[in-house]
Amino acid sequence: MKSLNQWRADEYDNQLAFVSGYGKNLISWLQPQKGEYILDLGCGTGDLTYEISLAEAEVVGMDASPDMIRRAREKFPDIEFMEGDGHQFETNRPYDAVFSNAALHWMRNPRLVVDSIWKSLKPGGRFVAEFGGKGNVQIIVDALEEVVERNTGIRASERNPWYFPSIGEYSYILEQSGFVVRQAYHYDRPTRLVDGEQGIVGWLAHFGGDYFAGISHDEIQKICHETSQIVLPHLWKEDAMYADYKRLRMEAVKPES
Ligand code: BEZ
Repeated sequence: MKSLNQWRADEYDNQLAFVSGYGKNLISWLQPQKGEYILDLGCGTGDLTYEISLAEAEVVGMDASPDMIRRAREKFPDIEFMEGDGHQFETNRPYDAVFSNAALHWMRNPRLVVDSIWKSLKPGGRFVAEFGGKGNVQIIVDALEEVVERNTGIRASERNPWYFPSIGEYSYILEQSGFVVRQAYHYDRPTRLVDGEQGIVGWLAHFGGDYFAGISHDEIQKICHETSQIVLPHLWKEDAMYADYKRLRMEAVKPES
């Protein structure tokens, strides 16, 4: 199903800047080298694509959202960006590495994604990614689905747009394609939200669109308020709400032969 989320580049760069902020650390797993040809899959507005380019690698950013790609081109005119779907992309020039931060959990058919990545890599090429892992934002998802269902009768779990696998599940998919998994890491990364006690409302407005299809504006407001009430005692720490993010970080290699 195509996501109903509006990928608004302004919000992404302002309220959601933590997405690429946290991702900088992932570049230490990629270790881009001068002259390497690298794909940043799900590049958003291009901040990490740019960071990778600082290593003098030749990096290309790809994202399914035209708005994100437009903004990325404005911000970084010297870098190549293209629209593309992670489930089905091809390249005439194989990459030395494919990198992806905070994007793969939106791609609901991981076998197709991994297959596209495999085909796009040179022998010896590497795949480095971080995205939501098993149990990611579970407190938020449970509360939201309960509230949507109670208010509308919609079976909200059927609208869940995300894929949050365990190390075992994702390693299996990688190995089935032929990858050798080098490193895998599942960890908690509580993520500070802006706007104090209203923090979750902004988060839901940006990311929760799939749950709200066909629901009136007033009802959405009510659902966000009730969800916020439920999660607040669980997610409030000292001075802010912290979303219960859990990350899965993977490094895999396409063997030489
Ligand atoms: C994440 O980065 O983990 C995430 C982002 C949006 C919705 C759900 C999870």
